Amino acid sequence: MFLSKGFVGRRSFKLPHYLVLWLGLLPALFHPCLADHDPELEPLQVIKPAASLDDDKVTLGSRLFNDTRFSADNSLSCASCHDLNSNGADRNRFSLGIDNKPLSVNTPTAFNSSRNAPLFWDGRALDTEEQIDFVVYSAQEFNTDWPTIVSKLSKDADYLRSFRAIYGRPPDRNTIIDALAEFEKSLITPGSRFDQYLLGQHDILTEKEKRGYLLFKSYGCIACHQGQNIGGNMLQKFGTFRDFFSQRRQISKADLGRYNVTGEPADKHVFRVPSLRLVVLTPPYFHDGSAKTLEEAINVMARYQLGRKIPQQDVDNIIAFLHTLPGQYKGRSLAIDHGQPAGDSRP
Ligand code: HEC
Ligand code: HEC
Repeated sequence: MFLSKGFVGRRSFKLPHYLVLWLGLLPALFHPCLADHDPELEPLQVIKPAASLDDDKVTLGSRLFNDTRFSADNSLSCASCHDLNSNGADRNRFSLGIDNKPLSVNTPTAFNSSRNAPLFWDGRALDTEEQIDFVVYSAQEFNTDWPTIVSKLSKDADYLRSFRAIYGRPPDRNTIIDALAEFEKSLITPGSRFDQYLLGQHDILTEKEKRGYLLFKSYGCIACHQGQNIGGNMLQKFGTFRDFFSQRRQISKADLGRYNVTGEPADKHVFRVPSLRLVVLTPPYFHDGSAKTLEEAINVMARYQLGRKIPQQDVDNIIAFLHTLPGQYKGRSLAIDHGQPAGDSRP
C-alpha cells in the first residue's frame, strides 16, 4: 500500500538532467558572489527551526522512537538504526535488521528528514505515514503488523495514560504514527555556521569554506543538492553522464532504485537526491554505502553526475564547505569540532 499508485504518476520530481543542471546553475553563473547580497536568491537556504510543535506529542513520539516493542522479536527500535545521540543514523555500510541480517541500503539520517520529499532512496514513501508503515511491515526491519504493535503498547499503563490525555483514546495505528511524525518534525538541526553566513555573518566562514561554497555552486552540485536540506527534494539518475553500475559484476535489486517502484525502464538507477546537511557525519556514502569517504563520494559525483574531474584542491575546499552545514539539535552542536581528527574526510 505504501507503493502507492498515485505516486507512480507523479513524475514532476524528475526533470531532464540537462534542464536541472541549467536551472541549478543559473544563479551561480550570473551571480558568483550572491552570498554577499540577498539570501533569498541563494540556491541553498537556511534551515528553519521546527515550527509550533505539540510538546506532549513530541515527548510521546520520542518514547515510541526508542521502544523496541515495535519489532516482532522486541529487539529493534527506530533508534537502533537512527542514533540521535550521534548522526541520526549509524556508521555501518548496512544497518543490521531483524535477526542481525544486514539491510540492502545504507541508512540515511533521521535528522531533517521530515523536510525531505519523497522519502527513501527510491522515493517510494510520500510522507512519514507511508515511511512508518513500511518499516513496520518490512521483513528486514520490524517484521510485524499494527494489531500486534497496538496490543503490545496497550499493555503499558504509561502509554495508555499519555495517549488518552493527548488523543482521548488508547493507542492505535493513526495516533502512534501521528506522535512519531510529530517527533520526527522536531529532529531539525538549525543554527549551522553556513546558515549564519547566509543570514549575513560573512566572517563566520573561512576563505577556504567560502571558496568551497562557490565551487559547490559553480561545479553545479546545486543543480541536484539544493534548498534548505541541500538535497532531499528531487529524484535523479545515479550516473547522469556515465554508467556508474557498468563496473559492477552484479547489480542488486536496490541498485535499480526507482525502477522498483514504477517498473519503467527510464527509472533504472534513479534515486532520491540525498540531503547533504549532515553528510560529514554519515559515512559511508551512497545507497549502497560503496564510498568510504567524502573525498571518494565527491570524485564519483564529479565523474558520473557532472562528467568531469575535479582537482584535489577543489575537492578539499568543497569538503571544508560541507563541514559548515551541520547545526544543532537540542542545544548540542552536531558539527565536528575543528581540530579533532575525524578520519580521512577532514578538510
Ligand atoms: C533496522 C534499521 C532501521 C530501523 C529499525 C528503522 N529504520 Fe528508518 N531507515 C533505515 C533504512 C535502511 C532506511 C532507508 C530505506 C530505503 O531508502 O529504502 C531508512 C529510512 C528512514 C527514513 C527516510 C529518510 C529519508 O531521508 O528518506 C526515515 C524518516 C526513517 N527511516 C525513520 C525511521 C523511524 C521513525 C523508524 C521507527 C518507526 C525507523 N526509521 C526504523 C533503517 C532503519
Ligand atoms: C545530477 C544530479 C547530481 C549532481 C549534479 C550532484 N549530485 Fe551528489 N548525489 C546525487 C544522487 C542521485 C546521489 C545519490 C546516489 C546514490 O547513492 O544512489 C548523490 C549523492 C551524493 C553524496 C552522498 C550522500 C550520502 O549521504 O550518501 C554526496 C557527498 C554528494 N552527492 C555530493 C555531491 C557534490 C559535492 C556534487 C558536485 C561536485 C554533487 N553531489 C553533484 C545527485 C547529484
